[in-house]
Amino acid sequence: MVSYTVMVQTGSRPFSGTTSYVYVQLRGADAESQEEKVHRRFLSFGFFKGSERTITLETESSLGELIYLKLRSKAFLGLDNQWFCNKITVKTPEGADILFPCYRWLGSDETVVLRPAKASLVFQDTNPIAQKTRLSQLEGRQKLIRWSVYAEGLPRIVNYKSALLPEELSFSFSKETEFSYTAGVQLIYLKLNGLADNRGSWESIDQLYMILCDITNETIEYVEDHWDEDEFFGYQFLNGLNPMLIQRCSKLPENFPVTEEMVKGLLGEHTLEAEIANGNVFLCDYKMLDGLVGNVVAGRQQYLTAPLVLLYCNPQGKMLPIAIQLGQTPGPENPIFLPSDPKYDWLLAKIFVRAAEFSVQELDFHLLRTHLLSEVFAMATLRNLPSPHPLFKLLIPHTRYTLQINILARNKLISDDGSITVNAGIGGESLPKLLQRATSSLTYSSLCLAENISERGLEDVPNYYYRDDGKKLWNIIHKYVEGVVQHYYTSDEHVQKDTELQSWIREIFTNGFLGRSSTGVPESFHTVSDLIKFVTMVIFTASAQHAAVNNGQFDFGGWMPNHPTALRKPPPKEKGQTTMSTILETLPDIGTTVNGMAVLSLLSKTFSDQYPLGSFPEDLFDEEVPCKLIADFQKDLRELSDLIEKRNETLEFPYTYLSPQNVENSVAI
Ligand code: FE2
Repeated sequence: MVSYTVMVQTGSRPFSGTTSYVYVQLRGADAESQEEKVHRRFLSFGFFKGSERTITLETESSLGELIYLKLRSKAFLGLDNQWFCNKITVKTPEGADILFPCYRWLGSDETVVLRPAKASLVFQDTNPIAQKTRLSQLEGRQKLIRWSVYAEGLPRIVNYKSALLPEELSFSFSKETEFSYTAGVQLIYLKLNGLADNRGSWESIDQLYMILCDITNETIEYVEDHWDEDEFFGYQFLNGLNPMLIQRCSKLPENFPVTEEMVKGLLGEHTLEAEIANGNVFLCDYKMLDGLVGNVVAGRQQYLTAPLVLLYCNPQGKMLPIAIQLGQTPGPENPIFLPSDPKYDWLLAKIFVRAAEFSVQELDFHLLRTHLLSEVFAMATLRNLPSPHPLFKLLIPHTRYTLQINILARNKLISDDGSITVNAGIGGESLPKLLQRATSSLTYSSLCLAENISERGLEDVPNYYYRDDGKKLWNIIHKYVEGVVQHYYTSDEHVQKDTELQSWIREIFTNGFLGRSSTGVPESFHTVSDLIKFVTMVIFTASAQHAAVNNGQFDFGGWMPNHPTALRKPPPKEKGQTTMSTILETLPDIGTTVNGMAVLSLLSKTFSDQYPLGSFPEDLFDEEVPCKLIADFQKDLRELSDLIEKRNETLEFPYTYLSPQNVENSVAI
């Protein structure tokens, strides 16, 4: 007889323990063991949260190389009691320690087959039992998780309507998280629920200071003090909530007829033509909002505009707005507003730009380009890569909670009665239309930071911290991905013959990018370097890019005039008519303001169990090379955090969103 020592570890989060019986069975290349009950004869043997239980499993002879471990739970007295199992380790009679990662919930009567942590590609995992296990795992997942259409022209989504997914897909997501994902709960936290239905206008901007009494922070205070200044308005295009729209202007758009006369004196001694040629003029064009009708909020029509903004980067490196046109079609009723206009004309024009920014930032750059794409990556990973696949191990931490959070967003924010739908200037038919337009403009290169920056001509714009920190972070992620991928794929041929990988990218191409070759997204992989770049983009999108466009929502939007969710009056058609009263009548009413604040506060929330980038509490890899690469990755990230912290000490307004310690592993909020 020989013996195997089996240690079962229960998760340590609340409710991880179970009253159920637990059984294990080992399958080796040569034989399989009997199924054995893991003791629970006495109270101390129960599967309490954070506990480890060990049994000895005896067999006639060695089972050979271990292929899988079967784990079965059985209800005790019919009690329906979920169990979160972390992992199981097995000491073999040969003296090897084999890790079987689990990290998922099991129902009270459920069987799962766990593979050893050692990663393998499909053509390396040659044992017929292993092949069969690999296949049946994917078949099971493909039945469970299917592509579904949210709206035509948008990336496909998961087929579930409730965020409480089947155990196999739920990971450690809890009901508690679901509960806190409501704007109503946030309103109570903000102590503003009493104002939610108030349809009155703010009597003065000063009134807004009052509602922030308990919930302000240094960033919000900075925004309060500077929101109406041109310098801060320009700064936000580079380092605000949406650093993605600004581009160098090499030629004035034909529908934006800014003249030399209009900007005279704003460019020092220079002409506009010369400064365009010098590369110092920039453009933000919200054309994707053109023709979209504003939402109706509390029975009142709201107004959307599709502005064009011209900016000048002055010799001191400040990005300053020099002209704003609120609609795409030039004409006498669509004046070009200038800093030299009466103060309130100019301020109101900037407010309309900031409101356009809300729609474009939330729906295109936040929802579509991080949340919905990460859902596509998560689904393709679950459906095509079995647990022994190295890319499953690499990517799964970067998909945590994404399916659930997107389901919650669809149910509670952008559904017919969702908090955004009923409170934001964008809603009704315009919301999916904007998403469709955004999807049709998606390209692979726009998702790859360096190419995106180069396409927008922003390589040498000063004080662009999103770019500076983002490039460093991209390079760190790239180095880590390169290490892992090159360890498992030692030639391009390996990439080409990995049928699981090829199915993965094909599903992403078809369901995420709607089979459009024009996006530049590959349909298949041919080389190791193609694969490294794509996987880097997937992790960067889910972690860094999401942090850049997500984490500052309350910082920049908590002070409503800087980020109005809706505007109640149409844009001005002539100059010289706007007063402070016009501005207060245009800005959201009191109820819309506090509901908007609640949504932004909810979306910027950090949950207690968040995992910062590079922290992998789940042991999915156990081989020396990937473990060393993870340690190097963590060290690189710490060094970047230190570097950014030092840089920020020199800044009046620090840029913190891409400091690795503030970036989560996945789109989880
Ligand atoms: Fe988000």
